Amino acid sequence: MQSIYLIGFMGSGKTTVADQLGKYYQLPVQDTDQMIEAMQNKKIKQIFAEEGEHQFRQYEHDVLTTTESNNCIIATGGGIIEQDRNVHWLKDKQVIYLQTSWPEIVNRLKDEGDRPIWQDQNRDKEQLLLSREQKYLEAATYVIRTDGKSIDLLVKEIIEVI
Ligand code: S3P
Repeated sequence: MQSIYLIGFMGSGKTTVADQLGKYYQLPVQDTDQMIEAMQNKKIKQIFAEEGEHQFRQYEHDVLTTTESNNCIIATGGGIIEQDRNVHWLKDKQVIYLQTSWPEIVNRLKDEGDRPIWQDQNRDKEQLLLSREQKYLEAATYVIRTDGKSIDLLVKEIIEVI
């Protein structure tokens, strides 16, 4: 089976959905953020603070291109589509965009303390979502709306479209 890549904004449910899909298909799950943390032996927050976002994006590209194109479920970081080379790389892959509205994201991340971009007071996150939307759509093979849906329902919808 061709690997399934999950893309979407922070808080769209990529990691949780990937875990459930992995269980359903009995396939290994990879997570680009976790791969970077393991490779650098640092938390994402620490990488942003010590090395900056630009370096993080380089690591993100490097790990994305090492993911398996078959028999894996891959959860990506919300900014994976920030680089055109990643959007291009995802073009011939099976990519699910978990599309979540701004109010729902705010609700899900209200107690979030670990995501550097979410914590950054100088960034307009709603604007960031808007600016990324077109790129998520460009990279996506399928779009699944997530608002108000349980993880079980999302997984069911994904299995149906694949
Ligand atoms: C980021 C999203 C994060 C993580 C990093 C940057 C982003 O992943 O890769 O903090 O730019 O949106 P999640 O989408 O899993 O939170």
